[in-house]
Amino acid sequence: MKPLHRILINKDVSFNPIWIMRQAGRYLPEFREIRKKNPNFINLCLNENLSFEITLQPIRRFDLDAAIIFSDILMLPYGLGQKVEFIKNFGPKLGELNLKDIEKINEADFVQKIEPVYKAIKKVSSDPILRNKNTIGFVGAPWTLLIYMINQKSPKKELKKDFFKDEVNINRSLLLIEKFLKVHIKKQIDSGASVIQIFDSWAGLLEEKHLSKYIYDPTINLVNYVKSLNIPVICFPREIKNYRKFCDIVKPDAISIDYNVDPKEIVKTIKIPVQGGLDPKILLTDKDTIKKEASKYLNIFKDHPYIFNLGHGVLPKTDPNLFEYLVETVKNY
Ligand code: CP3
Repeated sequence: MKPLHRILINKDVSFNPIWIMRQAGRYLPEFREIRKKNPNFINLCLNENLSFEITLQPIRRFDLDAAIIFSDILMLPYGLGQKVEFIKNFGPKLGELNLKDIEKINEADFVQKIEPVYKAIKKVSSDPILRNKNTIGFVGAPWTLLIYMINQKSPKKELKKDFFKDEVNINRSLLLIEKFLKVHIKKQIDSGASVIQIFDSWAGLLEEKHLSKYIYDPTINLVNYVKSLNIPVICFPREIKNYRKFCDIVKPDAISIDYNVDPKEIVKTIKIPVQGGLDPKILLTDKDTIKKEASKYLNIFKDHPYIFNLGHGVLPKTDPNLFEYLVETVKNY
């Protein structure tokens, strides 16, 4: 059985697999090398040979248990015909959301527009280097995608006051997002993804009264869909105020936690497998601190099914040698 499946399906507490969010990314010189020659990020994600290569870069260097496909949650709006660009020192910038046009798009058009993503997953998952490792496919959660598609950029710390004003269009958008997320998930699984992670990076922006409509309900639909395809699903509702309630309602196979939440509280209140938590800034310190902080998580979760990861993506300033030290620390625990 593949390492993540031992935790997610068998609830094994005898070992802790490790993978890291954004493990294929800017902290690796070999990624920056490719990126320099490919200034258009979307085109890079649509280059099946390069995205295959980038996905494997961290696997070739480190003893990780899973590869996450090099792509982006914003390939969904891109596949729906919304303009998506990545601008240096600014982040994602999207074009206007035109629902009339999107409503005309059928599944085949969408799949064709981002087909190289699926081809890359196929190449990655069938490569011998992944024989005993998982290939992780992923999507953005409906709420986080809704924000990017309507706000047309990252929302930073809070939502615009009038975000919920146009409820009719929000409802139309949510339905479209959910429909095409299912297509995107199915294609990733058919291409070889053996785990799906749902990233809800902006879950923390919502007040309690909005959680059912924007987070719980649409995420339950996706979680049940992934489960119906016999693939385990990990949810990362970053900075949600009540992880336990999320787990009770949405019931994913595992919950990925951020670094602001107390892992001791989590282990006491949550019964399903847990992933992540360590503050990515710890990787900017030194070996002693890394060992101490990583051991803290491993000790707290020693009798709980636990996948080692960070509480958010690895930072671009991270020294690959310290990344390697973290992986070794977890493997030798
Ligand atoms: O984890 C991995 O290694 C797989 C690849 C991956 C990327 N993005 C590649 C990427 C994954 C899983 C994502 C998810 C993603 N994308 C999320 C959810 C996770 C999170 O970080 O909260 C979000 C919100 C996005 C949207 C997005 N993409 C943003 C906000 C940015 C800019 C951020 C920044 O640091 O500049 C991106 C760009 C992006 N996606 C990069 C990578 C490697 C950096 C691209 C570059 O400039 O080289």
